[in-house]
Amino acid sequence: MKADKVPEKTEKLKEIKEEIIGLKKSPLYEYRSDNDYFPVIGEGAHDADLMVAGEAPGKNEAKTGRPFCGRAGKVLDEMFEGAGMERKKAYVTNIVKDRPPENRDPTPQEIDLYGPFLDRQIQIIEPEVIATLGRFSANYMLEKFSFGENFPISKIHGQIYKKESMSFKIIPLFHPAASIYSPDRKSDLIDDFKFVKEELKKT
Ligand code: URA
Repeated sequence: MKADKVPEKTEKLKEIKEEIIGLKKSPLYEYRSDNDYFPVIGEGAHDADLMVAGEAPGKNEAKTGRPFCGRAGKVLDEMFEGAGMERKKAYVTNIVKDRPPENRDPTPQEIDLYGPFLDRQIQIIEPEVIATLGRFSANYMLEKFSFGENFPISKIHGQIYKKESMSFKIIPLFHPAASIYSPDRKSDLIDDFKFVKEELKKT
């Protein structure tokens, strides 16, 4: 049973947290220290069937150390509510664990540096479904599992990516921040998230 392994999983996730706290080689470390920000490691159930992987923390997240607790987080909460799911039963994280200045896009160097922490979180949590939010986490995962490169998110959202060698499905979704001013995007996102729930039921 996955639940029996929770203490071990929690211990391993703690090791990741400690490593990221001391990640002085990160190009984002100085910005974190200068602003008294926290790295944002991830939050939720350590034996979650659903893992949600966003891009990088924004200002609210860096101030609190909690993923998706600002405006994009409100949309994520609506997605969970719309699908009748509890956010606390999922594990929510990002590829890049420190806030990039002025919310700029993460650089390839930052993704290369922080990506392996996401890989380890996936190995520890053993999710059934990984819902990626936005193009950076989608392309990171799809490249990693050799589905291809540089996919436009509008083409791949709401689809399942799975190979026999993988123990989980990847379902790319739009980033919630992109839906704040676009009702169409938001309804796509809410529909896609209901689809994620249907896929989870099959596991
Ligand atoms: N956007 C993200 O991608 N992640 C967060 O945690 C917050 C906003």
